[in-house]
Amino acid sequence: MQTKLVSAVVAVLASGAFTGALAHEGLPSDYNFRDDIRPIFAKHCAGCHRPGGAAPMSLLSYSDAVPWANSVKMQVLGEQMPPWLPVDGVGAFRHTRSLTAAEIDILIDWTIGQTPEGEPLTADELRELEPAATEWAMGTPDLVLKAEADVLIGEDDYELEHCLVLPTGMAQARVASAFEVKPGLATIVRRATISLGDSCEGARPLATWLPGQGSVSLAGGSGQELPAGASVAVELLYVKGWEDEGKRLVDRSELGIRFSDSALAVSALRLSASHTFSESVELLAIYPELDPEEPLRIEVVRPGGDAEAILVIEHFSRQWREKYVLAEPLSLPAGTVLRLSQPVAWIDFIESSATTAE
Ligand code: HEC
Repeated sequence: MQTKLVSAVVAVLASGAFTGALAHEGLPSDYNFRDDIRPIFAKHCAGCHRPGGAAPMSLLSYSDAVPWANSVKMQVLGEQMPPWLPVDGVGAFRHTRSLTAAEIDILIDWTIGQTPEGEPLTADELRELEPAATEWAMGTPDLVLKAEADVLIGEDDYELEHCLVLPTGMAQARVASAFEVKPGLATIVRRATISLGDSCEGARPLATWLPGQGSVSLAGGSGQELPAGASVAVELLYVKGWEDEGKRLVDRSELGIRFSDSALAVSALRLSASHTFSESVELLAIYPELDPEEPLRIEVVRPGGDAEAILVIEHFSRQWREKYVLAEPLSLPAGTVLRLSQPVAWIDFIESSATTAE
């Protein structure tokens, strides 16, 4: 009985339709939207929660955000938002989207404390929220690949995965140092997985791209070699928000690539269970290609050392699957064993001798 009551309250709060009804009981928060809350939203949420962004609502103006206060509380406490799967404290990655404990405290205090607005935003500040979505974050790419035809997302499609195969037309091999996707329809492009070759199935993942991420590159001045005549396969995940439900939509997303003549080409391995490195390597990225049901734990055991976890995901979500790029290359001496709790994951690495030879 008791538990039922609690979950009913949780369900009402989670619906977001309940703003303020509980908040007026307590004292007003010392934090306000302008000075404390909006900077957190701008830093961690606006990549998706902006006008025309991938999330169903903007959080950047007070009037847009405040109806969602209770929902923000539930999502943040439940670690559903911002979407970031690795557990905190294990590994350090690029493009991390998690909040600090202090930021969580501030958000929660505000959501249960009558959501003060502070000084209202000026017209100029509100205008600044408009996305400059037509620009490439990487600057002008060296190569832009675009499908010949639109992808159709039909009236009845709510979620759709589509594989685009894009020939590069490259006459010679080159090392790609950065990738970026420019969505045709930014409200529905939820994720892109960029692989080498002409199939999205089990192919070598070069990079993943999520909204708000800008351009994606590896650490340590390394990159992905694209052979002469290569094709690149881009798996796009489309998800419609409620505003797009029942609509027939078309998308023509583009892939931008930047090349570098000095970048070292990484090697990639598809692993199941465990792998022993016969040479010393610098580990650069991990892409879990795994069963969503079970927790994932990847650890390394250096010769004579203890097991050290490098990536742990308790609750997997297919929608937010991405390639985890290490903030700094991880040096693993020859004889290091890399173990994963379950198949399958891809890793990118370079042999240490390659870095010292340069
Ligand atoms: C990478 C994109 C992304 C980022 C970053 C992100 N969100 Fe979201 N958010 C979404 C999407 C997409 C949805 C729609 C629900 C879904 O399909 O999962 C959503 C839904 C929500 C919801 C509504 C859930 C409901 O009740 O339906 C809340 C609240 C929310 N996000 C809060 C936040 C906050 C707060 C942050 C930052 C601290 C954040 N999000 C960061 C993409 C994002």
